Amino acid sequence: MSTTAASDSEAGPADIPAARTVAIIMDGNGRWAARRGLPVEAGHREGTRALRRTVEAGIDFGVRALVVYAFSTENWSRPADEVAALMEIFGETIERELPDLAVQGVRTRFLGRRDRVPADLLEQMENLERTTEHLDTLQLWIAFDYGGRAEIAEAARRCLEDGVAADALDEDALSARLYAPELAEIDLLIRTSGEFRTSNFLLWETAYAELVFTDTLWPDFGADDLRAALDTFSARERRFGGR
Ligand code: IPE
Ligand code: IPE
Ligand code: MG
Repeated sequence: MSTTAASDSEAGPADIPAARTVAIIMDGNGRWAARRGLPVEAGHREGTRALRRTVEAGIDFGVRALVVYAFSTENWSRPADEVAALMEIFGETIERELPDLAVQGVRTRFLGRRDRVPADLLEQMENLERTTEHLDTLQLWIAFDYGGRAEIAEAARRCLEDGVAADALDEDALSARLYAPELAEIDLLIRTSGEFRTSNFLLWETAYAELVFTDTLWPDFGADDLRAALDTFSARERRFGGR
């Protein structure tokens, strides 16, 4: 894993800040729906539109990789009808929204456990990963049944399975066995909806990420919010523990 993602020499448009790898905790769908007297599914559905807007804005702003938190390992504990609706909406997004983004050069991959996802959904996910694998305008990673602790525990398990000796079990050995070793370190982590926590998202990858919190509820998020977060990022001084 590189620690120099933000200082990537690849130049973007002159006025665009240099956050190349951005992660977003897409939170606030339930409150968005509740404020309108709508069922929670309506909030999740509107959230998929915000995702599309945000990915398109990310392309315009020179973001190279976007990692979005769609469903956590803890979200299975929600009411069964909400979980069922989320699975359905996720399937619809794979069928309708993501192919449109593929036309714009977006490669989509999924990050997380794959052993609990319904079989038909898993097939859709793997199919989309296959059909977009040659695209490189923007790398979209969708964290689904994702937990940062689960990811690190899995990486440790893979080290053991690979016979890594105790004295060779270092940061590089673990990094290489995360769900997506090719995913650069996160420059900027955004959380919407006014919550100040990271809820088990990308624990390893965000070690030196800049954190930006916004009150905007996810279904209302769009290009202006992304731009504002990128501007905030560009005004930060990153030190990585140095002088
Ligand atoms: C985020 O929105 C979507 C998921 C966690 C799946 P929420 O559903 O958590 O929205 P709030 O936090 O209840 O408003
Ligand atoms: C985090 O949001 C998970 C996703 C956005 C997918 P949650 O709504 O599940 O997090 P908490 O419960 O507020 O910490
Ligand atoms: Mg929430």
